[in-house]
Amino acid sequence: MKHNSSTAYGSVSRFFHWATAVVISLNIAMGFIAHRSSMEAVDAKVLYFSIHKTLGVLAFTLALARICWTLFQPHPAPVHPQRRLEVFVAAVVHWMLYGSMLLVPLTGWIEHAATSGYAPILWPFGQDLPLVPKSDELAQRMAATHQLLAWTLCLAVGLHVAGALKHALIDRDGVLQRMTRGKSAGTESGRAGWTSAVAFGLAAVAFAGVVFASQIGLRAASAPAASLQAATSEWKVTEGTLGFKVKQMGTPVSGSFSDWTASIAFDEATGTGNVKAVINLSSVTLGSVSDQVKGAGFLDTAQYPQALFTAKIQTEGKNFLAVGTLNLKGIELPVRLPFTMTIKDGVADMAGQTVLDRRDFKVGESYADEKTVGFPVEVDISLRAKR
Ligand code: HEM
Ligand code: HEM
Repeated sequence: MKHNSSTAYGSVSRFFHWATAVVISLNIAMGFIAHRSSMEAVDAKVLYFSIHKTLGVLAFTLALARICWTLFQPHPAPVHPQRRLEVFVAAVVHWMLYGSMLLVPLTGWIEHAATSGYAPILWPFGQDLPLVPKSDELAQRMAATHQLLAWTLCLAVGLHVAGALKHALIDRDGVLQRMTRGKSAGTESGRAGWTSAVAFGLAAVAFAGVVFASQIGLRAASAPAASLQAATSEWKVTEGTLGFKVKQMGTPVSGSFSDWTASIAFDEATGTGNVKAVINLSSVTLGSVSDQVKGAGFLDTAQYPQALFTAKIQTEGKNFLAVGTLNLKGIELPVRLPFTMTIKDGVADMAGQTVLDRRDFKVGESYADEKTVGFPVEVDISLRAKR
């Protein structure tokens, strides 16, 4: 029998149930394995994530197809309509399962599409999603939601399986056989009615709570560790960005430092001056690997919280050059930063770029070749300062 009846699940519903159950269970395991596997064995980690994302997209497709099918099917009535609490709890859990089978992969997918240069989905259709911009903030928000929703899904699956086992082992009432063998159980009269609507409402509130909690948790976790005091300066920086670009798995990925200060002296008449910039390294973000970048193998922000750039400014043709040193991870090396600058009414706009080699500063030493992380790091600075 292909279709459901009011007392039994048809073969298509049962196929969808067990296919989603298998793919989702495998992918919960794969998510934890990928997330917890060491960055040192990066090739394996990337492969685990690629498998996780690919299975996740499959789970999403199956869930959509399953829900479309279910919408046009009669719903088998509860086998024990008189056990009202049990029927209600089962209905809440079923709605939690339906909700998370869509929301868990969707949030993971949006997180993936908002970043670049990390483990790809193993398919030829591209890695982006329409309407999803490349945005570190969006990716972080989605990562937090994806993780907390994944835990919610685990809880719902746990309750659901416990319920199924209770029916099979204690009640011995044929509820499990409805889903395994398509047997008929219960009577048509056991309609769930309002129970299902209230259960839906409760599940929706629970989801809203989980999403809200994940964003609160994120705000607490990402509050910057002691931000820098603004430096006293002849030219006061009013706005600016300190970004960088590095290739990850061959794709350029942009990162930035949100917390830095600069004290700048500059004489317009001679076109000379000096600059001292302090960078709070733990304010770094880099796509989905911001935490790893702060770790011991990369910037090691616990050991070296700040970097220091000091330089003399000189004119070079129509433009300028800052010649000085960068002290990063206790290693001080010469750096030349060419930049352009326009000064109008006491407001200076500058923009400059330079390229560093991460190996010079012992960043990512365990990545001896460029397969995972490129050697050159393009640094991009722009700022506006007022006298
Ligand atoms: C080994 C694991 C599982 C077992 C033993 C199991 C068992 C069952 C059984 C017996 C039913 C029918 C309940 C009834 O007739 O009232 C059912 C329904 C359902 N299961 Fe599972 N299940 C498992 C895993 C999963 C997983 C992983 C998901 C999804 C994430 C899932 C989602 C659902 C949903 C949404 C329903 C309600 C279907 C409906 O009537 O609309 N199940 N399950
Ligand atoms: C039903 C489908 C899915 C399930 C059950 C699932 C489950 C999980 C789990 C359990 C974790 C680990 C959470 C933790 O360690 O706290 C995880 C992490 C992750 N998943 Fe999924 N996931 C699914 C689909 C997807 C999809 C479709 C994508 C992307 C296309 C994705 C991308 C990710 C990423 C990037 C992480 C790491 C989170 C981070 O950035 O910190 N997932 N997932």
